[in-house]
Amino acid sequence: MPATLLTRIAELVTNEGDLGFFTAIEDAALIIEDGRVAWTGAAAQAPAADAVVDVAGRAVLPGFVDSHAHLVFGGERSAEFAARMAGRSYAAGGILTTVQATRTASDAELRGNLRRLADELRSQGTTTFECKSGYGLTLHDEERSVALAAEVTSEVTYLGAHVVPPEYAADVAGYVDLVRGPILSACAPYARWIDVFCETGAFGPDEAKAILTAGQAAGLSARMHANQLGAGPGVQVAAQVGAASVDHCTYLTRSDVDAITSTGMVATLLPGAEFSTRHPYPDARRLIDSGATVALATDCNPGSSFTSSMPFCIALAVREMRMTTEEAIWSATAGGARALRRPDVGRLSAGARADLVLLDAPSHAYLAYRPGVPLVAAVWKDGVLVHGAP
Ligand code: NIG
Ligand code: FE
Repeated sequence: MPATLLTRIAELVTNEGDLGFFTAIEDAALIIEDGRVAWTGAAAQAPAADAVVDVAGRAVLPGFVDSHAHLVFGGERSAEFAARMAGRSYAAGGILTTVQATRTASDAELRGNLRRLADELRSQGTTTFECKSGYGLTLHDEERSVALAAEVTSEVTYLGAHVVPPEYAADVAGYVDLVRGPILSACAPYARWIDVFCETGAFGPDEAKAILTAGQAAGLSARMHANQLGAGPGVQVAAQVGAASVDHCTYLTRSDVDAITSTGMVATLLPGAEFSTRHPYPDARRLIDSGATVALATDCNPGSSFTSSMPFCIALAVREMRMTTEEAIWSATAGGARALRRPDVGRLSAGARADLVLLDAPSHAYLAYRPGVPLVAAVWKDGVLVHGAP
């Protein structure tokens, strides 16, 4: 396999050594071989390679790892968003609008929408993303949702417990039995993860625990939506079942923060949701200063956060959540990798997957310094250029 040298990198973000914090090399070079990073170091010391790409003083980062996205759905909810901006509040029930549209969509429509969103993610620098079901809520519609998700990513999450569908409104226990029984059995072959929306208006702590442990018994690993719209038991349940990540974390008590730090579970923050629902942003400083591992993700979905842009979330995290630019970049790359238990991504050191982003900028800070500007010049996935041009 020919080796490719990327050289004259002004700033190479490496996140070396799984230290839990941002590391970078200035005036750097990197060698790609067999889809992996073979070498990183000072440009002046770079070994020879078969091909050379001169990036002319720009920054190279690990591809973003978006560990939380809902990309399989029909329809859209721009009117709901507009009404919210005019003063209406957000509630879990809006999900049912999308459930209706998803059930009536054809496979081809769902696939087309999913692929368009996957392309959007990639063109904005995301090289690994998670994708949930959760807008089908019948055996057939959940199974086709995870099957479609598996066409575009290996990080598929079964979220049959997103909300209780209207036909089970009078029999919540019956729906929970379906989610942890036949629908789980149908979906497990396509999925790596199981998730529950634990919140008022969705599922309670006992239901969440029963569903997550059933998923674990079927070979899936747990992650959870919790404490998004108010304080509640979700974070504690996630800690009890050994979830890889607890997501949203907008309303946390001291003991929630303690549960996160003592278990080492990742706290995944989704500032696109607070942007779009006008909730307060999660307190990232409190989490980080307490020693929590924080990831940033888009939560891309048609209701609460219809952005596919990790750069937008990074800018929000820096400006609105007081994360440093280095913390935000780490959380959007290595943090997401930890949330997905993927040691092969989120970093650029020898042995890592050659998933890279080249910015049209000299440093990572530009992602927050120039918000809304398309700075992603090129994206490589497994060493192959998949977007843009160097
Ligand atoms: O992560 N919180 C639950 N699920 C999504 C919202 C989905 C929707 O509104 O359609 C979320 O915010
Ligand atoms: Fe979500």
